[in-house]
Amino acid sequence: MSSMSEQRGISIQSIVKRFGDFTAVDGISLEIKEGEIFGILGPNGAGKTTTINMILSLLKPTSGRILINGLDTAKHEMEAKKMLGLMTQETVVEGDLTARENLMVFGRLYHLTAEQLEKRIKESLIEAGLTDFADKKAGTFSGGMQRRLELVKAMIQEPKIMILDEPTTGLDVQNRVSMWGHIKDINKEGITIILTTQYLEEADALCDRIAVIDHGKIKAIGTPSELKKMVVTGRVLEIVVEDIKEANEIVALLKSQFGMAASAKAEKITTVVEQGKNIVLTKILGAIDRKGIKISSVNLHLPTLDDVFIKLTGEGLRDTASGNSMSGRDKMMMRMGR
Ligand SMILES: Nc1ncnc2c1ncn2[C@@H]1O[C@H](COP(=O)(O)OP(=O)(O)O)[C@@H](O)[C@H]1O
Ligand SMILES: [Mg+2]
Repeated sequence: MSSMSEQRGISIQSIVKRFGDFTAVDGISLEIKEGEIFGILGPNGAGKTTTINMILSLLKPTSGRILINGLDTAKHEMEAKKMLGLMTQETVVEGDLTARENLMVFGRLYHLTAEQLEKRIKESLIEAGLTDFADKKAGTFSGGMQRRLELVKAMIQEPKIMILDEPTTGLDVQNRVSMWGHIKDINKEGITIILTTQYLEEADALCDRIAVIDHGKIKAIGTPSELKKMVVTGRVLEIVVEDIKEANEIVALLKSQFGMAASAKAEKITTVVEQGKNIVLTKILGAIDRKGIKISSVNLHLPTLDDVFIKLTGEGLRDTASGNSMSGRDKMMMRMGR
């Protein structure tokens, strides 16, 4: 065929989506490679779902275009759709139907032959670890089991690209980690994964590359480690003391003796120890000790993706599922122009 067939992956070219006067997606361009796990990370309302709905041809871009393996989705909607699987928070299993029936009903939508469908259902039940529960009503399943069934259901037609819109929002930690395992397994089978998330640690744990988006715009793209390097060259130092007054004293001390910008949130002080500034941890701790302040804990760590996010979006995660507001450290990062 033409050179088209060589353009593997997904090419998102300057897509814009306006709803009336409001611009939800404001000129996003991305090249997602075949076989990777690509994360779209951003707070509520950033434009994640709108972006993936355009990839799926569920929404028409106001402008821009999307190519999947070289095919323009606007011109080849059906072919493009066949390559894509989608799991959203709204992808729910039917509680009154058994696991097997859920897969059967959904599989019929894709016009699989009876033989193909039977084979796919068997494989799907194995993948979801639900073979022993195949003929039990999905409504009786735990949240984690239902989510796994939703995932294999969304993949019944064997998509080459799987799109997961906030696959773990609302799940508890155990089920979240288990879902991460399933996503990695799917990717190992050669399926390209695009996932959206508000969880920094999720993007960090799963993704080969991440685009941080906010207000419909890309703030940065890179591997998790590239993004971390982009932001802070030093280490984040956290000191916890016993009372708030002492914490404020330490903030003042760091400023006066070491010229360091720090902030306190309750009993926790956070600052950044820049590389090559010759500020030695033992000196800081010595100075605190001489003030007669007792330290409960000290933690020196590499910047996390959380730090990256704050730097790039200029604010904390807004209105997230976890209800995070800006932490003291995050505010400090901003004041330091990070
Ligand atoms: N159909 C719509 N009409 C008007 N505004 C919309 C519509 N869909 C989404 N939006 C707005 O676009 C912005 C981005 O939404 P969305 O893509 O759902 O964000 P995310 O998935 O990142 O939370 C939000 O401000 C949302 O209110
Ligand atoms: Mg969304």
